[in-house]
Amino acid sequence: MENGTHVPVLLEPVLEGLDVVASGCYVDATFGRGGHSRAILDRLSDAGRLIAIDRDPAAVASANESIKDDKRFEIIRGDYAELEAFIAARGLVGRVDGVLMDLGVSSPQLDEAERGFSFKRDGPLDMRMDPGTGTSAASWLAAVEEKELRRVLKTYGEEKSAAKIARAIVAARETAPLKTTVQLADVVAAAAPAHGSRKHPATKTFQAIRIVINNELGQLEDGLRQAVNVLAPGGRLCVISFHSLEDRIVKRFMRDESQETEQYRGMPDVPAEFRPRLKLVGKQRAATADEVEANARARSARLRVAEKVA
Ligand SMILES: C[S@@+](CC[C@H](N)C(=O)[O-])C[C@H]1O[C@@H](n2cnc3c(N)ncnc32)[C@H](O)[C@@H]1O
Repeated sequence: MENGTHVPVLLEPVLEGLDVVASGCYVDATFGRGGHSRAILDRLSDAGRLIAIDRDPAAVASANESIKDDKRFEIIRGDYAELEAFIAARGLVGRVDGVLMDLGVSSPQLDEAERGFSFKRDGPLDMRMDPGTGTSAASWLAAVEEKELRRVLKTYGEEKSAAKIARAIVAARETAPLKTTVQLADVVAAAAPAHGSRKHPATKTFQAIRIVINNELGQLEDGLRQAVNVLAPGGRLCVISFHSLEDRIVKRFMRDESQETEQYRGMPDVPAEFRPRLKLVGKQRAATADEVEANARARSARLRVAEKVA
């Protein structure tokens, strides 16, 4: 794939899930390189509106460059955990017809070595989606305690060899600071070799560190709640996840929001604030074999859709 591009995953199911109305108002909470945004814009009339968000300044720059002079479109640099404030500032809370969240990292983030997300490309150990805020992976790894590192690898990487890898990282940094992606990948591979697996031995370690550096799961929980808050009745929430930790959060959130609070379950008169805010739309969707063949990133993608009921 060419640098700077991102093939949108599950594009048709997303458009179907959003049920795009030409004059509607939509939020693409993860602009990336705008694959989904452009397809939504294609379906909007002059009366439609698309507000896009991304925390990565490179994504925002690409939006400003590639979608010029389109009055229907706006890009906001920020976290989707602040989605409600962005929408409130535009007077659109309760008036949004669809929110899309296409989680995780974009292809350009993975492909550009200097972003530090990839164990395949040597670059500085950064991994921040917004390099202007927070702590880089190198600084985090230099200071984290072994016990905490083990917990992170286990919890966010679901890494079975978390203890061995954490010990090896702590031993390695005593000799020399871990500054590059390949340095870290080599330490992990030596501590816990792949043993015939097709996945690189550092895959789960990189996932875990990336999740913690970007507070990805905390952002997701806040973003989901706020997305429902801004939707109009009948508005759709579409979320694409790429690993089981994300999907579990999305699935639980949609399930919990689509049933009465436990104390009122099965009761005839449920006060408005305890009624479900969502109803599930169809089952989770995965990419077809053809899409996976054309775009390997689609392999683990799962789309869940829900509709705001009130
Ligand atoms: C998978 S890509 C989206 C790709 C996009 N749908 C496309 O077709 O080009 C995810 C994007 O979401 C952004 N992102 C991830 N977490 C975010 C957050 N908490 N707030 C805002 N943007 C976020 C990343 O910077 C990345 O650009």
